[in-house]
This record gives sequence, C-alpha cells and structure tokens, in this order.
Amino acid sequence: MQKDSVLYQELREVINEKKSLRNPLIEILHKAQDIFGYLPPEVQEFVAEELNMPVNKVYGVVTFYNAFTMKPRGKYVINVCTGTACYVKGAPRIIQMLTEILGVELGETTEDKKFTLTAVRCVGACSLAPVFVIGDDTYGRIETRAQLQGILDKYLKDEV
Ligand code: FES
Repeated sequence: MQKDSVLYQELREVINEKKSLRNPLIEILHKAQDIFGYLPPEVQEFVAEELNMPVNKVYGVVTFYNAFTMKPRGKYVINVCTGTACYVKGAPRIIQMLTEILGVELGETTEDKKFTLTAVRCVGACSLAPVFVIGDDTYGRIETRAQLQGILDKYLKDEV
C-alpha cells in the first residue's frame, strides 16, 4: 500500500495528534490496528519513522502484547475463553465445533475474511461458562452446534 494512501494519511494524523503524549507508542499502535486491521511490518516501519524511533522498539511492543497482531484478521474476531471455569465447562468442545464449522484452526482467519478464531484468558463472565466473545457481544452456556451455527449466521448476514 502506498504511503500516501488514505489509510496512511489517517495514521499520520493520529500520530501527529498523539506524539506529544508521554508514551504514545501503544496508543498509536492500537489506532493503527483499528485503521489497518493488523500491524504488518510496513505499518510498524511507518510508525517508527514518524516517531523517530528504532523499528525494533515498535516490533518489540507489537510482539509483546497479545492485543496486537501482524496477521490480517477477519471482520469478526471470535475470542473463545479458555480460562479455568470455561475450560472445565466445555471450552475445548466449543473450539472443536467452531474449527469444524469455520474450517480453520485457532489463530486462523476464514478464507472469506469474515471470522478469525482465537483463544483468550478469562473474560470475567465465568458464571456463563463456557463463554466466547465476538466484538462487544458475549455468548455463554452454548451447548449445541445448532446454537453456535445460529449465532454465526447472524454475523454471516451482518445482522449485528
Ligand atoms: S473463565 Fe471464562 S469467563 Fe472466566
């Protein structure tokens, strides 16, 4: 992507707005990920150049925090909780069913770029275990494949 594209212009504006903060890097990287959907090397280089810092430092932060990804993500990220309560109540089965329905493994994105499947630690909704989160929506106590499919269908049709 050209560095004069609309997305890079938007990122440049964010950087100019934030760079006088004390520690702007993490906030800028979050915004960059919102803009591009992920943080490929060229975006990291751009941030490093604009902030006048070594690209290694940016790379170090991107790889340290789970919230950042260098791989493109789907439109909807399915975060399956694998915390203890959810694990005990069936998270492995939820993951198994989702991998079968979506045809991807954990950490992968579907070919149509609609869904990315990931595992996360406790999301604080243990009473609903097993839990998974898509965007701002939390789903719990899902037991059957049909229930799961029903939820995914809403996202497939963008009815959310
Ligand atoms: S362990 Fe899954 S929400 Fe707490």
